[in-house]
Amino acid sequence: MSRTLSEPTYRQEPTQVAPDTYVIHEIQHALGQPLSVYINSAVIQGQEPILIDTGSRRNQRAWFEDAFTLVKPEEVRWVFISHEDADHVGNLEEVMEACPNATLVCSWALTERYTNAFDFPLGRCRWMDDGVTFDAGDRQMAVVRPTLYDSPTTRGLLDTKTGVYWAVDSFATPVPGGEGADQLPREVAELDDEFWTHGMAMFAINALAPWLRLVDKDRYDAEVQHLSDLAITTIISAHSPTISGSKVADAWAKMRDLPTAECSPAPDQAVLELLLAATQAT
Ligand SMILES: [Fe+2]
Ligand SMILES: [Fe+2]
Repeated sequence: MSRTLSEPTYRQEPTQVAPDTYVIHEIQHALGQPLSVYINSAVIQGQEPILIDTGSRRNQRAWFEDAFTLVKPEEVRWVFISHEDADHVGNLEEVMEACPNATLVCSWALTERYTNAFDFPLGRCRWMDDGVTFDAGDRQMAVVRPTLYDSPTTRGLLDTKTGVYWAVDSFATPVPGGEGADQLPREVAELDDEFWTHGMAMFAINALAPWLRLVDKDRYDAEVQHLSDLAITTIISAHSPTISGSKVADAWAKMRDLPTAECSPAPDQAVLELLLAATQAT
């Protein structure tokens, strides 16, 4: 039994964020709102090319076009998987088949949690946890768990050559857009600052890490400080425009405030009924 997923209606070309470093975009429009959400992954060309996450199955055709225009499948040396959510491992099986020379960077926890859906090629895997660094030829890549995550397997990736950090789901925010939008912001600098603050809080509390309300603020602050002390020049997130320049410090400040941030409640059944009524009316 198989089913066909409808493809995204809007396409955005990859964004170069540093030398040899590109973000691949899928765009998901919000239900009933003039908003959109990025589903990003990344490609580092370099001496030993790296694919960072594999996008969603819904976006498979465009993802393959984007990724393999930037790097030839047989040249891919590393496939880094941040965690097992469907928007990050959607094309993992096909990618490992297409890239015969790639080593899969994952972990024991990821293997345990995701073996029910994917036959890990264990001989091609390297288990690397937070704090491990690996050599990708012309650069050292550091495995660094981001501040916020929605799976215990989550690990981010810092390219110590460019200072670009893959923050996985951290810094997730919607952006102005929605059905019919013809251009979405590629940098958080294009967002209204208040919109960005509320967007990060809304996603963090309602969709990513509701445990933020439970954390010890001092210990949480220390974790944010630990990450913000790293030599990170640019933050790329699966669900945010690029964070660069002075916005990096702003992003860490917003991250620090999240445990006590004001946040709208998630849409409930009443909202769903409004959405359904609007759909049926058209
Ligand atoms: Fe996730
Ligand atoms: Fe995600």
